[in-house]
Formats: sequence, structure tokens, C-alpha cells
Amino acid sequence: MDAFEVVGGNRLAGEVRVDGAKNSALKLMAAALLAKGQTTIREVPEILDVEVMAELLRRLGCEVTHDSTESLVVIDVPAVLHHQADYDLVRRMRASICVLGPLIARCGQAEVAVPGGDAIGSRGLDIHLAGLQKLGVEVSNEHGYLKAVSGGDLNGAHIWLDFPSVGATENILMAAVLAEGTTIIDNAPREPEIADLCNMLVSMGACIEGIGSATLEIFGVDSLHPTDYTTVPDRIVAGTWAVAAAVTQGDVTIRNARSTDLELPLDKLESAGATVEILDDGFRVTMDRTPKATDIVTLPYPGFPTDLQPQFIALNAIAEGAAMVTENLFEARFRFVQELSRLGATIRTDGHHAMVRGGAKLSGAPVEATDVRAGAGLVLAGLVAEGTTTVHDVFHIDRGYAQFVERLTALGGNITRVDVA
Ligand code: UD1
Repeated sequence: MDAFEVVGGNRLAGEVRVDGAKNSALKLMAAALLAKGQTTIREVPEILDVEVMAELLRRLGCEVTHDSTESLVVIDVPAVLHHQADYDLVRRMRASICVLGPLIARCGQAEVAVPGGDAIGSRGLDIHLAGLQKLGVEVSNEHGYLKAVSGGDLNGAHIWLDFPSVGATENILMAAVLAEGTTIIDNAPREPEIADLCNMLVSMGACIEGIGSATLEIFGVDSLHPTDYTTVPDRIVAGTWAVAAAVTQGDVTIRNARSTDLELPLDKLESAGATVEILDDGFRVTMDRTPKATDIVTLPYPGFPTDLQPQFIALNAIAEGAAMVTENLFEARFRFVQELSRLGATIRTDGHHAMVRGGAKLSGAPVEATDVRAGAGLVLAGLVAEGTTTVHDVFHIDRGYAQFVERLTALGGNITRVDVA
């Protein structure tokens, strides 16, 4: 079991480049299933979740090669796919559920293990299933597997989502592109990763209008062809580096990042006292004072991303003043607060609100990463805590951050990966 030892006190300075988005790349890999032949996906991050998705695609019959030096994944999709995604992979990564839509579209049936709950909340599948049922899919839950069958072609339908669920929309989109007729998804999420998936599907021959808006119109086609596609940069990783610069009163230039995908978090950093300079291929964050506390309310895009909430709680913990952080997406995300309290943060939670009293002088202690973003938040806190913070269970961080230790070290952070078996 690996852990990170972080010694606080160093100011981060320099440049860091961001890879393609985890939350996009995993879905783009699943989308490759929709066309027989060889699809290439570029700017794929070298993280654990990508390995899990590659393994899942192999079990479905694909040949997958991941060239980490070139950051690309090549997926050779056979004419006939297996249609079962096993529990041993789905439980390692909930995003495996995104093969449901493409498998139904390609095979007329799919069996995907029910992922169960995870560290950040119960995360239902009702919106996924209601959408697929509207397209003519019959779904049952048997022996821990979701069994989905379409009796013939899928039929386009008008689908109103109860909530703009990212995962549900991805599954519905990947089924609808090969359905008979037109599908409309209303109250669709506007996350950049959804637009990225739509753009890849269009590059494969799909017909989609309204990309980036809350109404997606999908005109079904008979078949799709393989493609060569580059993943959108990871806004959450870019945002994590931005907060790291702010908490350490540093000066970090973040390359291959789209500031337009991070308007609200960057605005919050400016309210906290940082200077954000927009560059052609990214942005630069400088901070020359103790941050000021800033209220956060997580919401679907373009609202404040839940995946940057723990990092901002870390910032608020050391800030001047107090802030209210409201989590509207994942109820169990505040589990991380208990870990941060071990470093000396003063935070009180009540339901989906956390009142963070700033001004804490954090002191290093052993803590546990409870999920990927919580892990990042704890490392950021460790960077400003006095002494050594040992972050355990860093496999969570490895799921979403490529070369985290190396990149932090290059910026001047004092962090080491250790084996704590
Ligand atoms: C994805 C991202 C995650 C991000 C989230 C919101 C991946 C791998 N993960 O997760 O990092 O934080 O989007 O931007 O891309 N819900 C239901 N029923 C459903 C589906 C969702 O109740 O059928 C609820 C969930 O429990 C949650 C909320 O809707 O409270 C948002 O979920 P969703 O947008 O689907 O997020 P994910 O796709 O799981």
C-alpha cells in the first residue's frame, strides 16, 4: 500500500501541463465500442482508471494498447462483442457503467454488474435506466447484474432528465446515436466532458445538435466509423493545480488548460485574493497573501464543480475569515472533513453544509484519502501544514492524477511516495 509523505512549507512555482480529462477519456474509450475497427484516442492520462477501462474493453473482445509515452490509446473493436461487464471490474471503477449504452446499441443486449455505492454517496442509476427504457430497452436486475435487452432496433424518444446526470446522459447518448429516428435529451448536463463525448461521436459519423446546451438532439444513423480523437483537457486537475498555487502563496502556470471551463472556480480564487492571468494555452495563478475565505455551492456545470469542493475546503481552512460550503451532488463528500480536522482544521458539517472557520495553523498528521478529490485536498492541506502529513490510501489519488508526486515535486513541493505495507 502506497502513501504520500508531504512536508509542508514550500511555495509552489513553475509550470505544469495538464493531460486529457479522466472523466472524458473513460467515456471516449467506451464510445469506441460503437464502431468496428481501430479507434485512436489521444491525450489519455496515465492513471489507474484508464487501465481498468482498458481491461474492461479487452474482456468485451477489443484489443487495447496504451502508449503512455505518446499518451494515446488504440482500441481495435471486433465485429462481434461480448456483452458482459463483470463485477470485479465494475466495482473497481463505477464509470464502467458507461459501457451499458454502447453495448445495447451494438449487441442489442448488455449485462453490467450493479456498481453498488461508493465512497462519495449512493449514486443511483434510475436516470440511466429510465432514459434507456424510453428508447425501448427492457431492464431487469438479476443476481447483481443489470440485464438490458432491446427487442430489435432502439427507437428515438423525447427524454426529460429528472436531474442533469452526467453518467445517465452519456449512456443515453451512446445508445441513441444508433437508434431509429430522433432522440431529444432535455435538461441535459452541460459539462465540457459531455460536449467532448458528443464531438467524438460526431467525428464517428453521428448526427447531434445542441452540443454544449441543455437540449441535445440526436438523429440516429445506421452505423458509425472509427475515429482519431483528442481528449479535452482535465479541468479538475487544472483547478487542483490552481488551488495548490493559491494555498502555498505560489506562482504556477498551468498549460494545456481551458480557463473557459473553469470560470467560476477561477473567479472564486480571485475573490480569495489570487491573481489569474489567462494565457493562450492555459492560465497563471499567483498569490501573495493569505487567502480570504470564499463561500462555495456545488452545482451542475457551469455551477461550481463538486470535484473541486475538497480542494476549496482545504483553502478555506487556512484562509482569513469563515466560509459556508454547500455540497449539492454527493452527500458523502464531507467524509473528507474528518480527515482534514485531524490536521487541525475547524469545520462543522450539518447535512450538506460545511461551515469552515479559517485561520487554522495546520499541523502534519496521518490521514486517509477517502476518494480521489478528497485525496488531492489532503495533499494540498499537507503542503501548508507544519511538519509531515502522511496521506494513506493514495490509490484513490492515482485513479485520477497522473504523475502527481513528480509534478508536485517539479513545482517545488516536498512530497514522496512511500510503501507503508
Ligand atoms: C460524473 C463524474 C464525477 C462528477 C459528476 C458530476 C465521471 C467518472 N464522474 O459522475 O467526477 O463529480 O459527474 O459532475 O465522469 N444520480 C441519480 N440517479 C442516476 C444518476 C445520478 O440519483 O441515475 C445522482 C447521483 O447520485 C448524484 C447526482 O445525480 O447525486 C450526479 O450524478 P451524475 O451527474 O450522474 O455523476 P456521475 O456521472 O456519477
